[in-house]
Amino acid sequence: MEQQKTFADQKRKTVERAEFTADGRYLRKVRSFVLRTGRLSDYQRDMMNDNWATMGLDYQNQPFDFKAIFGNDNPVILEIGFGMGRSLVEMAEQNPDRNYIGIEVHTPGVGACIAYAKEKGVKNLRVICHDATEILRDSVANGSLGGLQLYFPDPWQKAKHHKRRIVQPAFITQVLEKLGENGFIHFATDWQNYAEHMLEVLQQFADKLHNTSPTNDYILRPDFRPLTKFEERGQKLGHGVWDLYFIRKGETL
Ligand SMILES: C[S@@+](CC[C@H](N)C(=O)[O-])C[C@H]1O[C@@H](n2cnc3c(N)ncnc32)[C@H](O)[C@@H]1O
Repeated sequence: MEQQKTFADQKRKTVERAEFTADGRYLRKVRSFVLRTGRLSDYQRDMMNDNWATMGLDYQNQPFDFKAIFGNDNPVILEIGFGMGRSLVEMAEQNPDRNYIGIEVHTPGVGACIAYAKEKGVKNLRVICHDATEILRDSVANGSLGGLQLYFPDPWQKAKHHKRRIVQPAFITQVLEKLGENGFIHFATDWQNYAEHMLEVLQQFADKLHNTSPTNDYILRPDFRPLTKFEERGQKLGHGVWDLYFIRKGETL
């Protein structure tokens, strides 16, 4: 007998919105992700179903009210593609004076992140299971973010797939709208060609972004960024790591 489909099982079917052209044709989007069929374990499913009311946020086409969500005015840091969420939960635990929102399309990761946050008793974290580019565009108010972090995004190694990389000029334009003054952009990757691409794209916004690297390219791996699962895998394969850390300039700079 087929098991009854729960909220968590359905969620992976709603990670993006169907959009249409002006003349009513389905809009085929270039996605930065592939929806893997990875199995949602019973534990991850239960964690998602039981805690969504307190830890989950859904796509909405009006901005979130962060103060109402977190019950305070602390800066809100958005992380895109948190994977299984280990490093995000550790960061939230280490920075109780900040609020974190993690976005991930992979439901087993969302379940695992909620489970780990519950285990650690972390309260300053909410998770979203949806395409981050749609959330950023529709659900986040302009000037409302303290920072945006993107750690080890899918590198899309083949040249014909480079258009699927999430870091593109249009993405940075959108992030800049959402960041408050002095908000940060922190990227990390273990793929040199993607690091060079990230730097090249960010440098196009030199009038709005200050590169904190003393050498005007990458920073040393900062201690405040916990090791991510993907990074650990790369380390075992002997990969390098490139961190980029930029600050949005104030209007007066
Ligand atoms: C290579 S993994 C890295 C995961 C984690 N940051 C780590 O370092 O272990 C990249 C993740 O980004 C997620 N992702 C890619 N594009 C996304 C998007 N547009 N919105 C939300 N998540 C996305 C993928 O599902 C995947 O889990």
